[in-house]
Amino acid sequence: MDVYGLVGNPVGHSVSPPMHEAAYAELELDASYVAFEPAVEEVADALEGAETLGIAGLNVTIPFKQDVLEYLEADPLAERIGAVNTIDFRADGEPVGYNTDAIGITRSFEHHGVELDGRKAVVVGAGGAGRAAAFALSDAGCEVHIANRTVDKAIDLASQVPHASGGSLETLDSQLAEASVLLNATSVGMKSDETPVSGELLHGELTVLDAVYAPLETRLLRDAREAGADTVDGAWMLLFQGVEAFELWTGRDAPVDAMNRVLREELTH
Ligand code: ATR
Repeated sequence: MDVYGLVGNPVGHSVSPPMHEAAYAELELDASYVAFEPAVEEVADALEGAETLGIAGLNVTIPFKQDVLEYLEADPLAERIGAVNTIDFRADGEPVGYNTDAIGITRSFEHHGVELDGRKAVVVGAGGAGRAAAFALSDAGCEVHIANRTVDKAIDLASQVPHASGGSLETLDSQLAEASVLLNATSVGMKSDETPVSGELLHGELTVLDAVYAPLETRLLRDAREAGADTVDGAWMLLFQGVEAFELWTGRDAPVDAMNRVLREELTH
């Protein structure tokens, strides 16, 4: 049996175990996915233990995504983002760290038929999710504007990302008017009815992706629909980071529909 898992702290409410187990069941793979919660200061021991025990792959979540970089060979995208969310222990030599959050973002747009190459994209937020979004969209050919409450973080991130600019939340007004993609990478709207972008700035030429997935229907997405924009909820990002990890680990095409079904059941029950 191949054992995969998640390391984070806390991991109690993670939807990754049922989502990956659904994929193994659908493809009749002899594999299992377990959530592990090492103490915050013991991540190095956890990785060494995982490798010794023959664990095939691990997802990594808060607060370990940056910490694990120093114990791995990071692929170039994960290195640029400065965070790893997927480890492959089966690679030759050192375990390899990937960032499938970034690839999950572009796959979410592709799945919804959204063309990214040559488009203007606005990312709100410059934390971990904002970094993954900015690099992913830039690599997909977008001109990227990063707007963040703390302006210095937006400007610093923009200086690392090709074809990117950064500014305060006030820059949303002028930047969104010319944009065709908006991605919320802040935590605003998580378990609250707040939005990081005022509804009157939204328009019908936009596709709006909200990384927040609790609730699935955020105020931002409601406002976006009312403005005539297309919307992509946060479950798609969660799904496609998992799909990409599954495919890296197994070399098989992921059963996307089965994973999506179970993920949405988990998020809505
Ligand atoms: P994550 O890894 O999920 O991106 P994070 O690194 O803590 O989490 O980043 C959270 C993001 O949400 C940041 O961009 C943060 O803005 P600051 O850099 O100014 O802190 C943004 N954020 C959180 N609460 C916010 C709020 N009430 N209004 C605007 N932005 C907010």
